[in-house]
Amino acid sequence: MLTILTIVGARPQFIKAAPVSRALRRTARELLVHTGQHYDYGMSAVFFEELALPEPDYNLGIGSGSHGKQTGEMLIAIEEVLLSERPDRVLVYGDTNSTLAGALAAVKLHIPVAHVEAGLRSFNRAMPEEHNRVLTDHAADLLFCPTRHAVDLLAREGITRGVHLTGDVMLDAFLYNTALAEQRSTILDALGLQPQTYYLATLHRPANTDDPAQLQTLLDTLAELPLPVVLPLHPRTRQRIELHALAPKSKIQNLKIIPPVGYLDMLLLERRARLILTDSGGVQKEAYMAGVPCVTLRDETEWVETLDAGWNILVGADPDRIRAAVRDFTPPAEHPPLYGDGHAADRIVEILMARG
Ligand code: UD1
Ligand code: UDP
Repeated sequence: MLTILTIVGARPQFIKAAPVSRALRRTARELLVHTGQHYDYGMSAVFFEELALPEPDYNLGIGSGSHGKQTGEMLIAIEEVLLSERPDRVLVYGDTNSTLAGALAAVKLHIPVAHVEAGLRSFNRAMPEEHNRVLTDHAADLLFCPTRHAVDLLAREGITRGVHLTGDVMLDAFLYNTALAEQRSTILDALGLQPQTYYLATLHRPANTDDPAQLQTLLDTLAELPLPVVLPLHPRTRQRIELHALAPKSKIQNLKIIPPVGYLDMLLLERRARLILTDSGGVQKEAYMAGVPCVTLRDETEWVETLDAGWNILVGADPDRIRAAVRDFTPPAEHPPLYGDGHAADRIVEILMARG
């Protein structure tokens, strides 16, 4: 039986891995390695519980640190696991330091690497994720692309072998969990919110959080929007706010800062929001899947098809552009499928099994 060793470590990877793991375990042996990059209950364990992800076979407990220290410690620890388990293949997701460490540890031991969410590019080399993706794609021999655009971008870098257009596993997760979210989540009641009467925001990119003046401006801008803003706060952002003793200057108590929420609560918050403001990659896509307009607090995005479809707009961290978008941005009636049919995981597993 084929043994696939999956490496995850950060919040979005638990969500992406869930549908693939479910499909994979029907036909192969999967070993799950959690690097420990994310470790708070609300950033990690809650997703294993809600998504019924199996307990990791290894939790490396690496935790936070500078890029070099974090990635280096992961590399050492993953190598040890690979040497003792000798899997047929390593499977990595997305673009975090856990992704790169997993890919690098594997190729150095001549273990083939499959990359889910291959071919994404922001063309902004100041983003740590951009290096992680480029290097991982060039290390992988199986590249699972969510979109045709991603396939084309790989071809521009000379990568054409082992490239498969599968659709996006985040759509699989979104569709699978939407009904559960509708049944189980009580987040709107808990926050005293009515559907369509609030905006949902997330904020965690270093470009937005690591400059205190920029973070302060963003908090002030969010706090003064016409409707309440729910902001489930990423720990990186919380840490920055505490470090610099930041708080929205506005007297208008419109900003509801809450701890990070689980996936089911997040899906419900997304689906009921009037509009979403975010610098997250995954949340931009989910806004589209939920049919909610998205205002992206960045200057560029990897998820360009949401822009082309007219459902997402880039505003950077500029208060005037944010306010104007919240006031005026209106997506078209058309909402074509951009991320496949919700069966990306099955396609990925089929290819993994055929490839061996
Ligand atoms: C990481 C990924 C990013 C991804 C994001 C998803 C990299 C380089 N970045 O960014 O691509 O979009 O995850 O959420 O891999 N912290 C906690 N508790 C936790 C986790 C983190 O308090 O459970 C705090 C620590 O202070 C840590 C900081 O958050 O230093 C940043 O965590 P880290 O994993 O380094 O990067 P993210 O910003 O989460
Ligand atoms: N998410 C969540 N709770 C939160 C914020 C985000 O469950 O409080 C989910 C979100 O629905 C999406 C994923 O986490 O599926 C996105 O992860 P994140 O924004 O941390 O990272 P990115 O996608 O930018 O890499």
